[in-house]
Amino acid sequence: MALRPILTLPDKRLRLRAEPVARVDDEIRALMDDLLETMYDAPGIGLAATQVGVPKRVLVLDVAKREDENASPNPMVFANPEILSTSEETSLHEEGCLSIPEFFEEVERPARIRLSYLDRSGKREELEADGILARCLQHEIDHLNGVLFIDHISRLKRERVLKKFNKEMRERERGAGKNEAERA
Ligand code: NI
Repeated sequence: MALRPILTLPDKRLRLRAEPVARVDDEIRALMDDLLETMYDAPGIGLAATQVGVPKRVLVLDVAKREDENASPNPMVFANPEILSTSEETSLHEEGCLSIPEFFEEVERPARIRLSYLDRSGKREELEADGILARCLQHEIDHLNGVLFIDHISRLKRERVLKKFNKEMRERERGAGKNEAERA
């Protein structure tokens, strides 16, 4: 297992649509393990392969502690997740994202979903989810489609956060350039 660097805004790879995995083999299981280790280390409750620059339809999550702080870890892994149906009822809840550090905003999403996916052994499974699990799955599946949670908020708020991250990137680049000049 290995920690992988998490991409942050405005990295363009966050906007790529990930490809389905042909099958869940040892390489995909190793990716799942790396994603879990990286997610727990961050720490976060979900992580999509897109966020570590791997454009494959794989995601991991563990919402156990978010539901009950005394709960034991419950790592979950999903390959080729597909939303089969969503409830008409929606819920509004604050979200954050490891790729958009220190920004939180309420997002409206369907309250319940039905999902099909391949498990760690490559077996097709179906799952009905509600609450934080349904929310987290939708957030992570969005990542696999190059969609970020800020795409679900008002344009004004989204432009404000994009501006902030673009500015930070320019400052980092300027800083790096200056160091190179000093070393030369
Ligand atoms: Ni995210």
